[in-house]
Amino acid sequence: MADVLSPPPVLRLRVRDTVREADGVLGLLLEDPWGARLPAWEPGAHLEVRLPSGRIRHYSLSGDPGDVRTYRLGVLRDPAGRGGSEEIHTSVLAGCLLEVRGPVNRFPLVPAERYAFIAGGIGITPLLPMVRAAAAGRSAWSLLYGGRTLTSMAYRDELAALGGGNVALAPEDTHGRLDIDSVLRGLPDTAAVYCCGPAGLIAAVESRCAALFPARTPHVERFTAAPDAAPAAALGSGSGSGSASGPDEGGFDVELRRSGAVLHVPPGRSLLDVVREALPSVPSSCEQGICGTCETKVLAGEPDHRDSVLSAAEKAAGNTMMICVGRSKGSRLVLDL
Ligand code: FES
Repeated sequence: MADVLSPPPVLRLRVRDTVREADGVLGLLLEDPWGARLPAWEPGAHLEVRLPSGRIRHYSLSGDPGDVRTYRLGVLRDPAGRGGSEEIHTSVLAGCLLEVRGPVNRFPLVPAERYAFIAGGIGITPLLPMVRAAAAGRSAWSLLYGGRTLTSMAYRDELAALGGGNVALAPEDTHGRLDIDSVLRGLPDTAAVYCCGPAGLIAAVESRCAALFPARTPHVERFTAAPDAAPAAALGSGSGSGSASGPDEGGFDVELRRSGAVLHVPPGRSLLDVVREALPSVPSSCEQGICGTCETKVLAGEPDHRDSVLSAAEKAAGNTMMICVGRSKGSRLVLDL
């Protein structure tokens, strides 16, 4: 897995074409401007895309890893979002050049005899290549796929071609809420459950898995922070004026070893916010601990991780942290910045 200790390549790619994948979903087909092969990727991988405005956004690769000259992304237009999807839908056209970092895979497909995939809306993007891999292999699989309406649900034709009998499409306007138990009940212990979609869907899948199979943790990918994660806004990230603080939001010092700065992170301000006093261009994107853009190497100290990016083992190792939401368990952290 590429991470801050082994950074992924930075690529300059051309938008070969844009495709309307569904209501509100735009597909981008990216290629090397000189037709070179693109770095290999596996199902679950995503790209970090720097938009013309400088915004950084992360999008799952939804195409076929066997197509070595094309990356395909699917972007849902979110008028109430932070502007990235609006920019893509309105200003990114065929011929545009985009700076891209990746592919990075934090949502890998583990080997299993059987897969249960559950997708909500644009959450289908990382799951489609997984479905393709499962359909090409010997594993049994099923997909429960919900969306607001049938016409808002992307890639329906591809899914039908991959094995329509294994796919249950359940648009909310005609089917109501997804019947998660219909998928989970009867699964053998060897099955792997994968879910991507809105926070409510992921929480429901996690809850039902915990109730039905206490020993099995579903594999999930989030577009928003987990309900129990520390919200960056509440820590003042990016605003410089946050005031809310929880009972465990003690202050600590951070040393930026390469810059030579030592800063104090007071209660109520995020580490990222304080680091920007010395390094205004330190990269970030989601500022919710879900994208990995702000992953930073830790040289000393014990991070207090609050992100949904690192695995439990990676958090325990403490080699890196997401500085948009993470803090320090001790009085001092030393970062490789
Ligand atoms: Fe996304 Fe920190 S900016 S994890």
